Amino acid sequence: MGENTLSSNRQEAYLMEREQLLALAREAAQKAHCPYSHFRVGAALVAGGEVFTGVNIEISSYGLTLCAERSALATAVSHGAGPVTQVAVACIDAPPSAPPGSRTPCGACRQWLSDLAPHATIFIDGIEQNFTVSDLLPHAFEL
Ligand code: THU
Repeated sequence: MGENTLSSNRQEAYLMEREQLLALAREAAQKAHCPYSHFRVGAALVAGGEVFTGVNIEISSYGLTLCAERSALATAVSHGAGPVTQVAVACIDAPPSAPPGSRTPCGACRQWLSDLAPHATIFIDGIEQNFTVSDLLPHAFEL
């Protein structure tokens, strides 16, 4: 087996992982609770080899809304999961023509990612590029 075959196999496995996790994020988004915005978001992450999902949850006091990313991170932490290695996010109601900024994590979620998933690779549905947490939040606050 030549080097090219090996590396293309690796590339395939990687693509599967990205696409599988994005598919789980899209599936999770079906359960979003967003009666005000009707903008469904799902997140699926891998932590210590286990998958955890989350959705956005809106309540009547809009500012207290919980985003899908923070919901998934809280679930993983609550389960005592290992380090977060990949996070997939899907905004299933963003139209195909929507700009990238309507699919990427909000500022609060970026800080959560920075604290709780600093070494994760971030997959965003509809954006080909994968991100590191510091791509999303350079010069993050740290304690
Ligand atoms: N939302 C998320 O779930 N994640 C983000 O990073 C950005 C925004 C949710 C919050 C709200 O329920 C809806 O999307 C519209 O802002």
